[in-house]
Amino acid sequence: EYIIQNELLLPKKEASIPLDDRGYYFGDGVYEVIKVYNGQLFAKDEHLQRLVDSAKKLEIPLPFSIEKMEELLYSLVEKNSMQNGLVYFQITRGVEPRNHLYSRELKSTFTAFVQPPQDVEDAQKNGVNVWLTDDIRWLRCDIKTINLLGNVMVKREAADHHCQEAIMHRNGTITEASSSNVFLVKDKILYTHPATNLILNGITRQLIIKVAKKYGYEVVEEPFPVEVLEHADEAFISNTSLEITPIKAVYGQLTTTFPIGPVTKDLQIKFKELM
Ligand code: PDD
Repeated sequence: EYIIQNELLLPKKEASIPLDDRGYYFGDGVYEVIKVYNGQLFAKDEHLQRLVDSAKKLEIPLPFSIEKMEELLYSLVEKNSMQNGLVYFQITRGVEPRNHLYSRELKSTFTAFVQPPQDVEDAQKNGVNVWLTDDIRWLRCDIKTINLLGNVMVKREAADHHCQEAIMHRNGTITEASSSNVFLVKDKILYTHPATNLILNGITRQLIIKVAKKYGYEVVEEPFPVEVLEHADEAFISNTSLEITPIKAVYGQLTTTFPIGPVTKDLQIKFKELM
């Protein structure tokens, strides 16, 4: 297995992490996950642009150009002979003695590796159970930072209750899930939280909205309360790996079930056509 560290493609066992990288002790960095589909990086430009945007919001300088990054990611996929799977890559602010105050002159660190595809077929076909809990995260969820404690805590909580994903609400308003966005369907209309500071604006989310509108569905990007979820006809989650995955039941602060409905199924087909 090969990885990328800065500009080098290396066998994984030859890589090493500097102890005083700010990513290591502050979670001071940003990341992306791209799906590799038939050897191609799906929605590559959108993901690279979001990484640039996240880095900008945190004043993390890019280690090199976007073109170089793209070239490195493709060389990583090829070197690992990957046809289908995921590429993870991150930029951390760089190396300096531990101090909350960051300097702006650091050389940021780039790291990338591949992961085999997750088995999502069953989830996409039969749906998943989700756990509804409080959104305990900070107020800049629009930044795709590697600092994900709020997300990992609720994911564990969900798994401990035999749920595959945790969906969250802030004061009764559904925001998103631990590593995916949330949609509901009512009377053939799609509802999802607007792309504010309270959610990560998923690339999959954006593509779903585009495809849905193209095929004549109305999409309402407005905050909705837990009670509206309770009375939805269908609901689903979305991310790079899961694409569109139906919610079959909600547990935790709300208990309800959903059928795997016609709108979700239709959008799954239309989404696959993008790949
Ligand atoms: N997570 N919301 C959160 C909090 C996420 O972490 C993710 C993605 C999404 C969906 O974004 P996209 O459609 O661009 O994948 C929404 C990735 C998959 C991860 O952390 O592994």
